[in-house]
Amino acid sequence: MPAIAVVGAQFGDEGKGKVSHYLAERAHMVVRTQGGNNAGHTVVVGGRIFRLHTVPSGVLYPGCKSVIGNGVVVDPKALLEEIDYLRSEGVDTGRLILSDRAHLIMPYHKLLDGLDEDRRGQRRIGTTRQGIGPAYMDKNARLGIRVADLLDREGLREVIEEHVALKNDLLVKVYGQDPLSAAEIYEDYRGYAERLRPFVTDTARLVNDAIDAGERVLFEGAQGSLLDVDHGTYPYVTSSHPIAGGVTIGSGVGPTKIDKVVGVLKAYTSRVGDGPFPTELMDEQGDAIRERGKEYGTTTGRPRRIGWVDGVLLGYAARINGLTHIAINSVDVLAGFDTVKVAVAYELDGRRIEDPPANLRELARCKPIYEELSGWGDLGGTPAHRSELPASLESYVKRIEQISHAKVAVISVGREQGETIYVEDLFGKARV
Ligand code: IMP
Repeated sequence: MPAIAVVGAQFGDEGKGKVSHYLAERAHMVVRTQGGNNAGHTVVVGGRIFRLHTVPSGVLYPGCKSVIGNGVVVDPKALLEEIDYLRSEGVDTGRLILSDRAHLIMPYHKLLDGLDEDRRGQRRIGTTRQGIGPAYMDKNARLGIRVADLLDREGLREVIEEHVALKNDLLVKVYGQDPLSAAEIYEDYRGYAERLRPFVTDTARLVNDAIDAGERVLFEGAQGSLLDVDHGTYPYVTSSHPIAGGVTIGSGVGPTKIDKVVGVLKAYTSRVGDGPFPTELMDEQGDAIRERGKEYGTTTGRPRRIGWVDGVLLGYAARINGLTHIAINSVDVLAGFDTVKVAVAYELDGRRIEDPPANLRELARCKPIYEELSGWGDLGGTPAHRSELPASLESYVKRIEQISHAKVAVISVGREQGETIYVEDLFGKARV
């Protein structure tokens, strides 16, 4: 029985939620392995729209376990609000499970995220200001507080006092802010601990046991490959590993146990936040795609930057993830364009290059070399098979396969769940 990782093949917001929804319906377990409530996953179930931030989409499917793995950074207040929201919508949160090794986002992380962005001014990252970066900083500096510490009634006060004293130095002396009260934070977090305690376990054991027992496990990615802290457009990245490698670290499952890696992309590209974007469209065509694709951030409401598919970055994403499959979303958004473009190489200082340079000043000078393909019209419904696609769209899909060396398994032709062509049944038959 396969374990499948779904990752974003672009800059996030590729529509992973729709693919995950399809797979989660067939999965026994859905696992988040990185990021935190910077993610905004919109999932439509039974005509109802749910917006998830930290909770994996498995929570929406009866009988499916939802695991927040050790690699996720958890804002306990935001997580509890999300649980309350789901319960108020009649969703059973009893199958939600939280890793005892996940790190916590503390109030000072959120505060420092905003202060650091303001300090950077023009060179800001454009973060979601949810405290993600500072929480991962503390994790790596070995100054983090984990879920296991949260549940340790005696140890918690001490560790909060120690860390708040350090952060207060920074807040007061560097940023000229008022100090935070360790006692207040302790009281709040003690309350969160009691509410979260029933959800907590050793999730690496749980997920490995599920895979060993032949259950179908879906690893649900957040953000996108080009936002990976190692492989993305550093420093304009998030602080975690949204690539497939992050799945193993963030869940405690070895790479030999992951059977398929599905990269999700849109038929165009969007980016929210700052940073390089070689194929960005700063014109009416970009505006038209933004409006037709409703490209506004789920977490922040920010308008997303729009551009053509960048084959240089797609090939790169396919390589660093070891993609076996591709899901293409939003082909309907481009319907009616006479031609569509895909960048197949860059021109850098008069040279043709086929890999993205690591140096951002060089990347900023890269001019995309486009291949122009014929556009496709309104599909007038959802074709049952890939063979029924208009020839121009089929050529486009083939080009994506050539660039990524991966097989297109899913083609999405509209927002609704039914508006999808499943070329390959990734999980096999339905769970029940
Ligand atoms: P952070 O993850 O809040 O630190 O933000 C770092 C960068 O990642 C910014 O450019 C954000 O806009 C981007 N980012 C973070 N989460 C998402 C997401 O879920 N979708 C798209 N972009 C994201």
